[in-house]
Amino acid sequence: MEKKDLDWGNLSFAYMHTDYSYVCNYKDGAWEEGGLTSDHTVTLSECAGLLHYCQEVFEGLKAYTTENGDIVCFRPDMNAQRMYDSAARLEMPSFPKDKFVEAVEMVVRANAAWVPPFGSGATLYIRPFMFATGDVIGVKPATEYQFRILVTPVGPYYKGGVKPVKLQVPEFDRAAPHGTGNIKAGLNYAMSLHPSVIAHSKGYADNLFLDPQTRTYVEETGGANVLFVKKDGTLVVPQSFTDSILPSITRRSLVDVAEKMLGMTVEQRPVRFDEIDQFVECGMCGTAAVISPVGQIDNGDQSVVYGMEHVGPVMKKLRETLTGIQSGAIEDQF
Ligand code: COI
Repeated sequence: MEKKDLDWGNLSFAYMHTDYSYVCNYKDGAWEEGGLTSDHTVTLSECAGLLHYCQEVFEGLKAYTTENGDIVCFRPDMNAQRMYDSAARLEMPSFPKDKFVEAVEMVVRANAAWVPPFGSGATLYIRPFMFATGDVIGVKPATEYQFRILVTPVGPYYKGGVKPVKLQVPEFDRAAPHGTGNIKAGLNYAMSLHPSVIAHSKGYADNLFLDPQTRTYVEETGGANVLFVKKDGTLVVPQSFTDSILPSITRRSLVDVAEKMLGMTVEQRPVRFDEIDQFVECGMCGTAAVISPVGQIDNGDQSVVYGMEHVGPVMKKLRETLTGIQSGAIEDQF
């Protein structure tokens, strides 16, 4: 199979049409068979539930080319489970988990020519998403839905690739306490857009949101979870007591890698913002972000600096090990 003629090493995190998407409709209480389509458009009723009451959930995962040319996906079953949970929270039908994994395999196989080659630094980003197509005018769940998967080759999420970036603490919250912050739904990202435009205009890569109840604890950024490293090398993973942090699959994998492969100590606990100056490294993690180092965090006129010049040794090691597993170079032991 011939790869597409793209400048693989210089891709940004942007959308381009590939050959196929996957589509499957839900009607009369059941999912249809589903299959591939080369039509990248969606036609909706003007009264579709998606357009009025935001019934939409999505996922993000990636496909990689291994050194011997095979194409592999990283833990699609975990994305299937998370989408299942997200859909339940928004009163949407669950998409069967085995069907989800089969659909991911089908659409990646059909777009094999778009999976970036080994060593290019790029990957095929896979975006499963589900939305209400049925009409609703009163506030209630729709009865018809569409599940789709689009794929697109991407480079690094944060400009500059693995160079440290700056974050700021915004005046806004990302999610309500015990609201929807722990599911992957478009509505959470809508909440982050206004603060994110402000942050970008001030030269920050993203916002570091604090807990919405007390504004005392660290939560996550607009597009990724965060991690810290203590002086003694312990990995510190912020937890939310208001259920407002997205359970990142990359973060879970990093905790496994840190504990079981690298023999590190991991603390998963609420992290106060006023203790982050005691840490020596910070990074953002997610499917899109992989692990992106954070060099500085500003809150008003206070700055916590981890270093803008180079990536800390723990983040570097975690990144190398995780990307090694994802691309098949290091055996996945979990
Ligand atoms: C991901 O990491 O896959 C995400 O969904 C984050 C962002 C691009 C919304």
